[in-house]
Amino acid sequence: MIAVENLHKHFGGFHAVDGATLEIAEGSITGLIGPNGAGKTTLFNVVAGHLPPTSGKVMLAGEDITGMAPHDLFHKGLLRTFQIAHEFSSMTARENLMMVPGGQSGEGLWTAWFGRGRIEREEAELRRKADEVLDFLTISHLADEKAGNLSGGQKKLLELGRTMMVEAKIVFLDEVGAGVNRTLLNTIGDAIIRLNKERGYTFCVIEHDMDFIQRLCDPVIVMAEGKVLAEGSADQIMKNEAVIEAYLGTGLKNKAQAG
Ligand SMILES: Nc1ncnc2c1ncn2[C@@H]1O[C@H](COP(=O)(O)OP(=O)(O)OP(=O)(O)O)[C@@H](O)[C@H]1O
Ligand SMILES: [Mg+2]
Repeated sequence: MIAVENLHKHFGGFHAVDGATLEIAEGSITGLIGPNGAGKTTLFNVVAGHLPPTSGKVMLAGEDITGMAPHDLFHKGLLRTFQIAHEFSSMTARENLMMVPGGQSGEGLWTAWFGRGRIEREEAELRRKADEVLDFLTISHLADEKAGNLSGGQKKLLELGRTMMVEAKIVFLDEVGAGVNRTLLNTIGDAIIRLNKERGYTFCVIEHDMDFIQRLCDPVIVMAEGKVLAEGSADQIMKNEAVIEAYLGTGLKNKAQAG
């Protein structure tokens, strides 16, 4: 579904992504792991159109999407979750979901005068869809809660919920598990698996929690120093000498920096 070909992203002289080549198969939940600073988030940002690549190519279902803007990719069903922006924290969980879809009837004078009926119908439809999503994510009881009052894990679920308000094909998740308690992390994992199985979503998941990766992801791709170091099942990856060494290397470096 996604093919990244010899991708480079340089910041000045620093090669954050340094010739990465990888594929994400349709229907998979592909894991992307690697030590801190390996270039995972940068690769996501380039694929999702938030950063232009220095060189290389990104293909979506055979179409060259290199350098395409995020909103164009959004309409092609390529989504990347973001933290709920501060200005949305005073809106309820349901309202946050209802904000997502593009292409509603605008607020032009014409529609304001003559289109009220249509706008009301669209709102009712959006509301129904938002409630369906909240139900799917098992957080219906939080529908009227302000997003700012949700726990870290509940916010992550709501972020995942936003991808369900549109016709997503592939969703990129960057560290959904960070700072989330075990129970909610399992709920998030369940939601990802169900979206994959029941709605055919393809996922690419960056995560440091290896239990989470092992439960959800096949294959797992390992990045180190801007390149793809290895790919395989979670079990194969955890036994891979080069992978173990890459993690040890940064472990030692971090210790040296800390000391
Ligand atoms: N805008 C930027 N300007 C300069 N350097 C950057 C920029 N963004 C990222 N980098 C550098 O690129 C390298 C890769 O960063 P990136 O965030 O992609 O790593 P990562 O694999 O996501 O790491 P982590 O697991 O810690 O999130 C890091 O050394 C980082 O400091
Ligand atoms: Mg990162």
